[in-house]
Amino acid sequence: MKLDLLGDRQRTHYCGELRKSHVGQTVFVAGWVDRRRDLGNLIFLDLRDHTGVAQIVCNPAVSAQAHDRAEEVRSEYVVGVEGEVVARSAETVNAQLATGEVEVKARTLLLLNEAKTPPFPIAEESRTSEDTRLQYRYVDLRRGRLQRNLRLRSQASQVVREHMMAHRFIDIETPFLTRSTPEGARDYLVPSRIHHGHFYALPQSPQIFKQILMIAGCDRYFQIVRCFRDEDLRADRQPEFTQIDIETAFPQRDLLFDIIEQLMEKLFALVNVKVERPFVRLSYESAMELYGSDKPHLGFDLAWKRVSLPEAAREKLQAAPAVKLLRVPDWAGVSRSQLDKLQESAKTNGAERFSYLKVEASGVQSPLSKLVGEETVQSLAQAAEASAGDLVILLGMKSAGAAAIRSAMQRLDEVSGLLRLEIARKLELIKPGAWNFAWIVDFPMFEYDETARRYGAMHHPFTSPREEDLDKLEADPSAVKALAYDLVLNGSEIGGGSIRMHRRDIQARVFKVLGLTDEKARERFGFFMDALEYGAPPHGGIALGWDRIVALMAGESNIREVIAFPKTASAVDLMSGAPAGVDPEQLDELGLKIKN
Ligand code: AMO
Repeated sequence: MKLDLLGDRQRTHYCGELRKSHVGQTVFVAGWVDRRRDLGNLIFLDLRDHTGVAQIVCNPAVSAQAHDRAEEVRSEYVVGVEGEVVARSAETVNAQLATGEVEVKARTLLLLNEAKTPPFPIAEESRTSEDTRLQYRYVDLRRGRLQRNLRLRSQASQVVREHMMAHRFIDIETPFLTRSTPEGARDYLVPSRIHHGHFYALPQSPQIFKQILMIAGCDRYFQIVRCFRDEDLRADRQPEFTQIDIETAFPQRDLLFDIIEQLMEKLFALVNVKVERPFVRLSYESAMELYGSDKPHLGFDLAWKRVSLPEAAREKLQAAPAVKLLRVPDWAGVSRSQLDKLQESAKTNGAERFSYLKVEASGVQSPLSKLVGEETVQSLAQAAEASAGDLVILLGMKSAGAAAIRSAMQRLDEVSGLLRLEIARKLELIKPGAWNFAWIVDFPMFEYDETARRYGAMHHPFTSPREEDLDKLEADPSAVKALAYDLVLNGSEIGGGSIRMHRRDIQARVFKVLGLTDEKARERFGFFMDALEYGAPPHGGIALGWDRIVALMAGESNIREVIAFPKTASAVDLMSGAPAGVDPEQLDELGLKIKN
């Protein structure tokens, strides 16, 4: 097929922008053929670019050239059209289409490129497997929804830059070829050709660098930065993802919160969402008790209550003393099979005791009555503050020794969180269009790893303990609270940060609690420990999960939909075929050998 050249023709308009006001003008539009309808004497083309679709009419009486060319055209061919914008007749106006009142009468049609039949139709409604979409991402990205997402993301990045610069943050780039950073995931390693046996690690975050920038007197830093983590992937995790990374010297937590809240307000205004400020603040402990999650969805009113079972009941149920109760308003009429399903999922998730109370006008019905007696059941209903018509769910764990009880209670919280979400979904309590931001604060400094039998940092090892807990650091690590915070939106963790340790002595004590010997700490973070000795100011910051925020703004449930070239759940780029094998020579140069 003979193709035409674009020559020096300039586009005068985008397809989706033609309106009645353009009638009578000669335009040159270009794009992809979305659809072609051949009515014999007339050929209609829907010409698409990222702004939308314009109808082109090729009438041999107007231009034999355009009509002849249009006969050769197929879906996704690239064409340019010069012609006159005319009003459509009343009966052919398409009210669904922004350009539906006009069409372009083609005088010249340039066939700029042909295209293979696309692997799936571009039309938004077509269902295609995600693997196919990712393999042909360049076709997928032509779709209106993804174009909108990418453009929203770009616009939003601009808002971030303007906001941060207005608050005197400066944008500084930090290295990608660096040393292992301590965010708790596995590193992606890059072998050094010059230093065989040595590796760079791609940063899991710029954490240490941004702290060093504070020591370096940069005062306020931000960066829209790619981070790399080799971890199990889910809908809200990618192996490379983007953070809005932020750090400030002489930090005041409330001031930082305010800057971030204002930023959220501006960002969500882009999608016409009014954000309520100030955001709710919730301690980690209450979040776990009430919602069974450190990233609770606060868009609906279901909250657990932790209560102690009376001694006798505890023995009868052979349960751990603390149980959790959830009042579900007006659900006493729940069916047996629905309760069975809830029980099954609670047990699958790890709950060891499950029961329920139906509060009716005539009294409380519960399978527990036979075991623990009417009186206890009544008092549980009271503790849950249930009234007639309500259902109360009870979750517990079996009794356990002191050593096992802590992790059992953690599991109980986790199950309660999952069950709360399950019930909310079942009862459709999560209303679309509600935006519930919250700060989760007062995290424990350490979490105890039962298998490794040692403490790990709950946030990361540079987070400062609260000043008033410093004397408990060695004696009772689990009682120490950290100056850490997370930002949560509709059940998704969209950011996390902390006030850091700026004193070397405290940093060294924390490393010790974490089981890092002086030698190990020196080996991993020696350069940073040194930097702390040269006048480190108090500092702190946060990193926002940019992909997650944009996905929420765009109404997408998977961050892949707001990333141009994402990877699959098994960390593969289906389009380029990465990761891929390499030539033996390349390995040789790097001094590497593949084990089998
Ligand atoms: P953290 O590890 O909490 O903190 O990361 C900050 C935010 O980044 C997002 N996020 C991810 N998004 C997509 N894919 C992933 N694999 C992924 N992992 C994390 C989350 C998270 O809240 N250096 C600290 C920040 C600090 O202390 O200032 C850090 O990286 O939304």
